[in-house]
Amino acid sequence: MEQYGYFDDAAREYVITRPDTPSPWINYLGCEAFFTLMSNTGGGYSFYKDARMLRITRYRYNNVPTDAGGQYFYINDGGSVWTPGWMPVRAKLDAYECRHGLGYTRIMGEKDGLQARQVSMVPFGSDALVTRLTLENKSALAKDVSVFSFVEFCLWNAQDDSTNFQRNFSTGEVEIVGSAIYHKTEYRERRNHYAVYAVNAPVQGFDTDRESFLGAYRGFDSPAAVFENLSRNSVASGWSPVGSHNLKFTLAPGESKSFIFVLGYCENPQDQKFTAQDVINKAPAEKLLAMFRTDAQFDRAFDDLAGYWDGLLSIYNVSSGDEKLDRMVNVWNQYQCMVTFNMSRSASYFESGIGRGMGFRDSSQDLLGFMHLIPSRARERLIDIAATQFKDGSAYHQYQPLTKRGNFEVGSGFNDDPLWLIFGVAAYVKETGDLSILSESVPFDNDESVAESMMEHLRRSYHYTIDHRGPHGLPLIGRADWNDCLNLNCFSATPGESFQTTANFESGVAESLFISGMFVGVSDDYARLCREFGWQEEADAVPGFKQDMEQAVLKHGWDGEWFLRAYDAYGHKVGSNECDEGKIYIEPQGFLVMAGVGVKEGYAQKALDSVRKHLLSEHGVAIHTPPYTRYHLELGEISSYPPGYKENGGIFCHNNPWIVLAEAVLGHGDRAFDIYRRTCPSYITDQKLHHTEPYVYSQMVAGPYAPRFGQAKNSWLTGTAAWTFFAASQGILGIEPDFDGLKIDPCLPAFMTDVALTRKFRGSTYRIRMQNKAGGEKGRVKVVVDGCAVEGGLIPADIAPAEHEVCVTIE
Ligand code: BGC
Ligand code: NOJ
Repeated sequence: MEQYGYFDDAAREYVITRPDTPSPWINYLGCEAFFTLMSNTGGGYSFYKDARMLRITRYRYNNVPTDAGGQYFYINDGGSVWTPGWMPVRAKLDAYECRHGLGYTRIMGEKDGLQARQVSMVPFGSDALVTRLTLENKSALAKDVSVFSFVEFCLWNAQDDSTNFQRNFSTGEVEIVGSAIYHKTEYRERRNHYAVYAVNAPVQGFDTDRESFLGAYRGFDSPAAVFENLSRNSVASGWSPVGSHNLKFTLAPGESKSFIFVLGYCENPQDQKFTAQDVINKAPAEKLLAMFRTDAQFDRAFDDLAGYWDGLLSIYNVSSGDEKLDRMVNVWNQYQCMVTFNMSRSASYFESGIGRGMGFRDSSQDLLGFMHLIPSRARERLIDIAATQFKDGSAYHQYQPLTKRGNFEVGSGFNDDPLWLIFGVAAYVKETGDLSILSESVPFDNDESVAESMMEHLRRSYHYTIDHRGPHGLPLIGRADWNDCLNLNCFSATPGESFQTTANFESGVAESLFISGMFVGVSDDYARLCREFGWQEEADAVPGFKQDMEQAVLKHGWDGEWFLRAYDAYGHKVGSNECDEGKIYIEPQGFLVMAGVGVKEGYAQKALDSVRKHLLSEHGVAIHTPPYTRYHLELGEISSYPPGYKENGGIFCHNNPWIVLAEAVLGHGDRAFDIYRRTCPSYITDQKLHHTEPYVYSQMVAGPYAPRFGQAKNSWLTGTAAWTFFAASQGILGIEPDFDGLKIDPCLPAFMTDVALTRKFRGSTYRIRMQNKAGGEKGRVKVVVDGCAVEGGLIPADIAPAEHEVCVTIE
């Protein structure tokens, strides 16, 4: 089987050994405000905070060849032109390697005895992409080398940039001072920010006008300036501003030379925008550039970044005896959780950055995998999310990261949304013990005049479900629940109509078993939060609400071998053996069993047996089966996709960890791990078939009915990251932050007999050793902390903050 790369665990890098990966395999640089997506061939783009509003460099989605546009370094070595990342010139390289690391990417290319090594990062604390490019002459002869840097600026608003050409082509402006190129389009009017692209050496020439650099009718693969080895010193005026520096130098045999390139974002206060008429105030840029003039400065920033990640990844670390699990849990899964926390579903190679902002449901779930990393940022996020809730408990489905305002176009009506907020806040309190978040005053719909406590927001979330129940006492689905392609109140026969915003059939009866699982699952945590807040009466009412819902599920939601998925707008069953297609769905089996529904009655076990029997495949558990072969007006988008793709019978990775967690509830360690392994990237054997990056989760892998069974799509930005980390770290390995302390409750596969784990939690470091003789089922768990047995596996929160030895035996 063709291989494209491997894990270098010691370096915490993924090493790509050939540039022509099945799709671009990318990395995310930046973890605060400035971000760059960088592919293994140097493609990608940068933005500040918001990929739509403040896009710094241009990128063309849907383009051929794919992945065209990025930060490029063209090399002209005595007339031979090439690029170290292979793209865009695609000259044959003698050597190539790309290493994606934590917040940085290295690309090495070599041709005719000249080696180019680039290291790119977004340094912690800086709003810039900083790249060191080193050229080394490995040949026996002196070389005259000419390097041309290249970025293409985006005119800030990425949506306008790709549509409004009649205006765009006349707005572009730059300034050039020495080796610094300033992109200042629209700065003369309402913008107080600009971009700078600079190198720490004198240049032989520059270009800032795309057509001058490339030549008319030429592409990124053959810039005229590079092939003629002569910059045009062009000054952009309208059209498409770019940034290109030319550096010419001689390298003796064995000699090498490095340059540091900085692509930065700078802001000025409104009253200090200009230093003279039309001359931008460059002080912030000069300050930025001064930070990256020398190799020593670059190395320090690189070390700081490594230190930052060392710190984050020291919070949860396992040595399980299975290196594939270890590298995912310790490094790549947590890394992806940081990315999904930052990006939500906004900017990837499958999300254009101009569509969805932050999703209410998406962001709430992303927090579940991020909470332990930086709880203070999670807290802030929870408040932002809650502020987009309406007074009746419903919520804007999405909001824009820059303005934090709810998105009007999409509006509300997704009836799962409100409950996710309770999951998020409960996870925060469990991690930190910080109850002050409950009293935090948070507006509704961003209107400070109607602010209430966070706890009141949660109450409205919870009661929204209670107050919106259908004929069977089950939650009404509204526009959709988690599976937002199951559009039960949208009878769309009009081409182009949006399934996300159309609710043209007010049935008032379509109900969701999935939301019932969420409701039951979150009830105990909600009651606990009420009690902590002093709402005893409300807390006391919760068991009744919970029980009513469980009863409704047992009575109207059980199909005989598994749980139903929903009742549609006619009151017909969805996900039933009675259906011709879509007979069984994964979501209710996962969420209802996680919530403990039907455990006593034996339904839970049956439901999970049915999952294995009907939905399990080599590449994971399919979302439902059999897929819909025709369009069902009453089901909506789910039946738009051809069988086996996406929500129509694909392996929708996000919900696989729910089955892992459900298996753990029933105590099946081997079965839980088996599901975990099937979607886990580091167990992938056929990288060509899988297509997307083998170091991160993808949203979807084509299901058994698809012609391309096993092919993944939509990598990086998926709730799979958070839920899988949650399932592995808490469900399987059993390290569960809880209100009263750290609960140790593993459910291990038989082969994991000896596990060592470190967990930092509320000021203590726990060194945990587990001896497992339970043979693949849960077994009896005994926990001894510093020599003393603890009750119920719970290490109490009031233990003195220190380093503690924890011995766990499972028999
Ligand atoms: C996709 C879903 C996605 C939704 C919202 C649908 O077309 O299949 O996965 O959540 O759009 O953007
Ligand atoms: C992707 C969306 O981002 C998410 O909100 C949704 O739950 C899943 N697709 C499932 O449809």
